[in-house]
Amino acid sequence: MTGFKADRSRVIRDLENLAALVSKTEPGYTRLSFSEEDRLARSHLAGLMEKEAGLEVRIDAAGNLIGRGPGSMPGPALALGSHLDTVRGGGRFDGVAGIVAGLEALRLFRQEGLITRHPLELIVFLAEEPSAFGLSTIGSRAMAGRLTKKHLEGCQDEKGWTLAEGIRVMGGSPEDINKARRTPNDLLAYLELHIEQGPELDRQGVPLGLVTGIVGIHRGRIEVMGRNDHAGTTPMSLRKDALTAAAEIVLALEDVCRRRKDLVGTVGRLEVYPNAANVVPGQVKMILELRGLNEVVIGEALASLESLLERIEVGRGVKIDFEHQVSSNPVVFNPRMLNLLRQVCRESGHGYLELPSGAGHDASHLAEVVPTGLIFVPSREGRSHCPEEWTEYGHICLGAEILVRAIKALDEEEPI
Ligand code: GLV
Ligand code: MN
Ligand code: MN
Repeated sequence: MTGFKADRSRVIRDLENLAALVSKTEPGYTRLSFSEEDRLARSHLAGLMEKEAGLEVRIDAAGNLIGRGPGSMPGPALALGSHLDTVRGGGRFDGVAGIVAGLEALRLFRQEGLITRHPLELIVFLAEEPSAFGLSTIGSRAMAGRLTKKHLEGCQDEKGWTLAEGIRVMGGSPEDINKARRTPNDLLAYLELHIEQGPELDRQGVPLGLVTGIVGIHRGRIEVMGRNDHAGTTPMSLRKDALTAAAEIVLALEDVCRRRKDLVGTVGRLEVYPNAANVVPGQVKMILELRGLNEVVIGEALASLESLLERIEVGRGVKIDFEHQVSSNPVVFNPRMLNLLRQVCRESGHGYLELPSGAGHDASHLAEVVPTGLIFVPSREGRSHCPEEWTEYGHICLGAEILVRAIKALDEEEPI
């Protein structure tokens, strides 16, 4: 492939500009979905899509930002994409790497004057990470037709705003949510470049990963109700301490997951009330997740966790509510797309590994709709969702070049 060499300084400029468009008060690199910083980053990106890649930019009904360039034929588009929102205290590459690599790929097509047969799109999905509305992968969920009225009106943030109102603030039109839906009639295939967020590529010194599947994620909210009491005068035998019960729940989840292969579980959020040094905690709220590639194993783990919760409830005299929030099934990627990507990697002369993804991605929802491929580049020491997250600029440039090759191959192929 001649030409089509990523412009390293342009890629670095974009990564650095986006790294600066983060909250000034939160830790690490924080650009929560629906925040002012998220809106600023999206409008920065919209400008680059228009000026540098010549794309026509719109916001769809679900609040996804989409840039589109015409093909030489009408018909379904080939789409690239990822997200710009981050977790609180996150890093600079999760999501951003795929947006910058995708943008660079589309700039290269323009620069080389190559008009593909199919229109090309770059999609900045709304709210990939868990949002204030208790839901993640919101934009891609809508594209797969899985964002319901119940989500739009029932999911509320702490101020009581509904998800529908949040989407409107981001430029979407939730009353027309079905218009965000994509089908093979208008989308031929979807490709996403993402950082691995795990250690394998870095450990093995391999620059590319082809993702075979994505874990299923089950997320739930647990509330433990005990009793507030004086921390000095209440004997140990009379306490209904919600936090010690919660500690048992955290350890029970760890045990349930350690006993099973390929299953991980996390309590990443815990709120203790009243959270005072001299009061026995009366209430704890927590969010837990289970992730694995096998739905049956996730189901078994949930059942055994539920019976442990009953035991903890009785043993500690507290009340435990477990509300199942979201559940996504594991995804296996289209084998023909995987084959095409293998071929693309081989022709590029770069090594690749095939591996599953333990992180969730917008590609999970897109895979329900169209042939989808997910390509990883290495994360230094596998660190992610933390400020230390790092991916070499050269690997993001390579990612852009692989996207170019993959788009050309898809564009020239009969539908896969
Ligand atoms: C997204 O980053 C996730 O895996 O939670
Ligand atoms: Mn993430
Ligand atoms: Mn991500």
